[in-house]
Amino acid sequence: MNHTIKAGASDYGLGPHTFPRGWFVVAEAGELQSSPVAVTFFGRDFVLYRGSSGQVVMLDAYCRHMRAHLAKSTSAHITKTGANVEGDSIRCPYHGWKYGADGKLEEIPYEKGFCPERLSIGAYPVRELMGCILMWHDPEGGEPDYEPPYLPAWETPGAIPWELDHLGEIAIHQIEILDNMADVHHLGPTHGSPCEYLENEFRGTQVIQRQGGFIDFYQADLKTVTWYTGPGILLSKQQYLANTRYEFIANTPVQDGLTKAWHGVLTVAQTATPTAAEIETARQEQAGALATFSADFEIWKHKEPAVQVIQTPHDGRFRALRKWVKQFYMPRGEALAIQRELDGILPVPGFPDAGSNKDGDFEADCFGLAPARALQGLGGESRHAPFPSH
Ligand code: FES
Ligand SMILES: [Fe+2]
Repeated sequence: MNHTIKAGASDYGLGPHTFPRGWFVVAEAGELQSSPVAVTFFGRDFVLYRGSSGQVVMLDAYCRHMRAHLAKSTSAHITKTGANVEGDSIRCPYHGWKYGADGKLEEIPYEKGFCPERLSIGAYPVRELMGCILMWHDPEGGEPDYEPPYLPAWETPGAIPWELDHLGEIAIHQIEILDNMADVHHLGPTHGSPCEYLENEFRGTQVIQRQGGFIDFYQADLKTVTWYTGPGILLSKQQYLANTRYEFIANTPVQDGLTKAWHGVLTVAQTATPTAAEIETARQEQAGALATFSADFEIWKHKEPAVQVIQTPHDGRFRALRKWVKQFYMPRGEALAIQRELDGILPVPGFPDAGSNKDGDFEADCFGLAPARALQGLGGESRHAPFPSH
């Protein structure tokens, strides 16, 4: 689909990097079967595949020999016979050059003893987590400085995992999606749930929103805690009546000003092995949450970019939120100063803070990170190519 890009990072005063540092969804885990998959994110083409050990590998898409795309061949002999993935390595469909999971050139089939390391391609840290494939993107080529978010509820007996809604590409810069975290006054008009309290909390690479109020859709009180871990992955714990659900929204830049999004809801059934009826209820929960989110999505799709928000005295704290986002577009060394400036709770003028709604029990399973290195990934051994500046 062709999109008209309306505004990019520099229009919003982000930068110097065009694309942010962080963990981002690049595929749903189930999309990776036996064949390599071509994906484009951060203005760059990649190949994504699952090696025979089960490890997910993400490499630059183009072969160093004659620039063939490693995944965009369905009719080459090597592809048809499934010989392009060999162990955790991949062979180019054109002349069969072989690259390892670390991007290292391992073999030129018709050259004995000639396999220069300088002809390797970029490899990127990957995690497979909560049904998603995540990549670490860093314009400076550094290793991850935080781990992706993780919900312990994913492993609770009775957990009914999400099947992601693929929302496709939207011609809006991701910062306008992140604005939602501060946007207290859209909750009534857009979602029919005017909040009675709201606060934001900044914690380094995480930003938290606590809010609640009566929601028209469910005719009940809704209590939520929502957090981004880095600029790409939102998780939210929501409670109304006797229901608790966990919502997931991921947004990943495809090009500067073009964003791909996914959505899901996890619920936990009463019984360890969920019944068909409980699974059906879970799907309805996800559909209900999607209906709510779609109201935002429709507005984003048709709006002009708000490169600057007119922040009125009682508006949400967009400026602070956008400053938090900015840290991921800055060199790593400069991000810390922004974190130090913002860290802490930021109330919205005229609104009560979360007060007694901020109870420790409700948030006990929130804000967690995936245990480092326990997860599948390339870790420290990966060759990690710095991104060219765009
Ligand atoms: S183009 Fe890849 S091996 Fe020749
Ligand atoms: Fe919203």
